[in-house]
Amino acid sequence: MTETIESLLKEQQEFQPPEDFVKNANMNDPHIYEKAEADIEGFWEGLAENIDWFKKWDTVLDWQPPHAKWFNGGKLNASYNCLDRHVLKHGDKTALIWEGEMENSETYTYKELRDATARFAAGLKELGVKKGDVVTIYLPMIPEAVIAMLACARIGAPHSVVFAGFSSEALAQRVEDAHSRFVITCNGYFHKGNLIQQKERADKGLENAPAVEKVIVVDHAANVIPMKKERDVWWNDVIHNMDSECEPEPMDSEDILFIMYTSGTTGRPKGVVHTTGGYMVGTHVTSNWIFDLKDDDIFWCTADIGWITGHSYLVYGPLSNGATIVMHEGAPDYPDKGRFWDIVEKYGVTIFYTAPTAIRTFMKWGDEIPEKYDLSSLRLLGSVGEPINPKAWLWYYEIIGKSKCPIVDTWWQTETGMIMISPLPGITTMKPGTATRPFPGIKANILDDEGNEVPMGSGGYLALQNPWPSMIRTINGDEQRFIDTYWSKWGTDTYLAGDGARKDEDGNFWILGRLDDVIKVSGHRLGTMEIESALVSHPSVAEAAVDGKVDEIKGEVIYAYVILDSSCGDSCSLLEDELKQHVVDEIGPIARPKKIIFTEELPKTRSGKIMRRVLKAITNGTEIGDISTLQDPAVVEDLKRKVNEIG
Ligand code: PRX
Repeated sequence: MTETIESLLKEQQEFQPPEDFVKNANMNDPHIYEKAEADIEGFWEGLAENIDWFKKWDTVLDWQPPHAKWFNGGKLNASYNCLDRHVLKHGDKTALIWEGEMENSETYTYKELRDATARFAAGLKELGVKKGDVVTIYLPMIPEAVIAMLACARIGAPHSVVFAGFSSEALAQRVEDAHSRFVITCNGYFHKGNLIQQKERADKGLENAPAVEKVIVVDHAANVIPMKKERDVWWNDVIHNMDSECEPEPMDSEDILFIMYTSGTTGRPKGVVHTTGGYMVGTHVTSNWIFDLKDDDIFWCTADIGWITGHSYLVYGPLSNGATIVMHEGAPDYPDKGRFWDIVEKYGVTIFYTAPTAIRTFMKWGDEIPEKYDLSSLRLLGSVGEPINPKAWLWYYEIIGKSKCPIVDTWWQTETGMIMISPLPGITTMKPGTATRPFPGIKANILDDEGNEVPMGSGGYLALQNPWPSMIRTINGDEQRFIDTYWSKWGTDTYLAGDGARKDEDGNFWILGRLDDVIKVSGHRLGTMEIESALVSHPSVAEAAVDGKVDEIKGEVIYAYVILDSSCGDSCSLLEDELKQHVVDEIGPIARPKKIIFTEELPKTRSGKIMRRVLKAITNGTEIGDISTLQDPAVVEDLKRKVNEIG
């Protein structure tokens, strides 16, 4: 920890963007906020002009709360906007730089990426994929993942990308929920030098998804795998003999572009539905103004394409801006802890977007690692996924950004599709730890239970009070859940984000974390009930309650309280490992509990509901508060002792 950081922390300093940055920023008009507010529809309509439409919209917004139609009547294609329109201007510009786990790499110009996409799109059609068919993409961070997404968009087949690290079970659940008959996967990939048998994992999941007709397999790791007759087909055979002239399908603005599964407050993940026109407008402008994308920028968003950040700021936002993107397969510590900075140096990355958990990890590894590399190409840094603590912010600013790069701390969600609260780097005074203020045209507020604005400085529910183009349209197949989850607390015109927040005297928003049963482990969003369902599906488990414990590096780690069918006696530690592995098998390694606490009882109300508030206090060693409504108050002391013992 450097002395400067210590002193900056004490001062709670504010940071102005460098003069040069301000002068050249894509957006440097400080009045943009008032201008947008004065005519919100006009504001978004003006921005929609930056997208190429085959046919212009009839209306900018049709708002029947909570249902919005943006740019209705307009026709466009997302793949055309990300590829073809740039090929017309600069087909030889690099679109994608892919850096593999084994330090191998590939680059695609815009023309090459367009051609590869069109060829695969034609192959998909040949296989029988039709407009409206959901295609599940279960691929790691390889160029084919981007090509597959854009190819789906090209023919109007909504994609559903399932994070490659998710388990067979998780894949099956998502394939089924989306009624997806087509899956794209690969034979294998490498993670920290180990071969991951992806096809094997997919096959296991697809045993429970008999409706799947075709599985397209990329040969990525050269490992030999069984191919199921009639069902499985190699990617290379799909594109073989296809020409690259597959015309982009004119899509209605409100046609579905993709479904993205995310965790909520029940055991079942929800398929967040995003449509085409509004999503493209929202991700285009936020990429342009927040990341200040210029023609010669090299933009690296480290998020996996299995998450919304990968969709909006690895693929659609930057490519619709004609930017050069970096995509990295692999981990930040393989082959060594300098891997990220090595990539920044190697490609001259100018804009770098990552998560606080990664920043805190780098900080722990020590300044001397990034200091070995030439990071002078960097001009802007971004953060996403969880609150960034001021100490990590300052480290990022000073050690990575050399005190010359503005930091955009961007708050948003799978459901919002685009960044909602963030500095505009050419305008905003930054304060470490706050995402600052809502993007122009976005009305965010902090409300109490009754829907009143809380007094300045007080905590409350973060709410969004008007519609925005890239907003969630529904939850796939569960309209009621969509309404109940987001639009019922105060009325159907106000969106409940699920986060707690407070506002300071300068109008900056400080995000305090989730208020519902969602936890964030290393920036990954997980539902406590999802993990609980995984645990109780183990034959020895009678009941389970899962909670997040605050962790300095990961944000939160998972503590699972488990009641067994019968006592585990001396074999508790064996069972602990088995249960952890069981959760990994059911969901994936990101959901592995850090600790399992065996107990006879859980803190429940007399009606049998787990008191999450009490559990949270036990897990985190904080003030327990009122427990008079508990069935058995003695359980609190017992669990506190157990948690204390494991440290
Ligand atoms: O709790 C907030 C946190 O991440 C949640 C959304 O998670 P997900 O849908 O997976 O999307 C993550 C990437 C957009 C939010 O409800 N979150 C996201 N960004 C921030 C954040 N919390 C604080 N500060 C942020 N910048």
